[in-house]
Amino acid sequence: RLDLFSDALFCLITDKIDKELLDAAGPSLKVIGTMSVGHDHIDVPEVKKRGIQVGFTPNVLTNATAETTVAVLLAASRRMFEAREELLNGGWAKSAWGPEYLCGQELTGSTVGIYGMGRIGQAVMKRLKAFDVAKFLYSGRTPKPELEKEASFVDFDTLCKNSDFVIVTCSLTPETKEIFNERAFSLMKPNCVFVNTSRGGTVDQEALMKALKSNQIFSAGLDVMTPEPLPTDHELTKIRNCVVVPHIGSATFKARTDMATITAKNIIAALEGTPMPAKLC
Ligand code: DGY
Repeated sequence: RLDLFSDALFCLITDKIDKELLDAAGPSLKVIGTMSVGHDHIDVPEVKKRGIQVGFTPNVLTNATAETTVAVLLAASRRMFEAREELLNGGWAKSAWGPEYLCGQELTGSTVGIYGMGRIGQAVMKRLKAFDVAKFLYSGRTPKPELEKEASFVDFDTLCKNSDFVIVTCSLTPETKEIFNERAFSLMKPNCVFVNTSRGGTVDQEALMKALKSNQIFSAGLDVMTPEPLPTDHELTKIRNCVVVPHIGSATFKARTDMATITAKNIIAALEGTPMPAKLC
């Protein structure tokens, strides 16, 4: 917590920027630079009301996050965590090479549904094309005419019902909060692989855990969850068909270096009264 008067604040997604912090920072605070593209940790209306500028880091983490999304998707669809467990606990020796041993879901010929076709969603689609996906569906606020030839815009229910893979890459807003709830999971196919690299808050986690444990859906790959950090003994870590990694979407040396640099540049620009390279508000 700040208890000094500051001109600028360099923050991370784990720093809650609320009234209390803004009061502690004092009236001299002119700019907040968040080293993230997501900004649900910032009380934006309150910041705006105080005339404080906010810079963020879009674009530079798109590739890293898309790579993580593909990695988590493959780990969940091809049961990589379970497979490692089997290797270490002797399960392999017991099952030998059973015809259905550790079988998973295939991307080839599948329908992939992307919820939130922004920069990261599009970068994920670009990478998944190499896997010979048959069809891309997407849902979100508005259709994107430039994607007309590559993907079909559908409503939320159609996306859930028809996708073999449901990938969440939207931002967390009041509209997307827990949009993936019991009803959404009940619409999904039993072979569906659910992937979330956006924010844990987009998912009703209790409903997801229920859907996984009852095999209502095939598996999940999560880079984000609630809470973060997840307690090591949390139920989510014990579910066989759930791959969980600790919010490493943008964790490449390149992305993190670029994110830090842009954050610094945003802050310097605002203090010097010049346009920020990436202004949120
Ligand atoms: C962001 O920048 O919002 C990401 O979640 C960090 O990895």
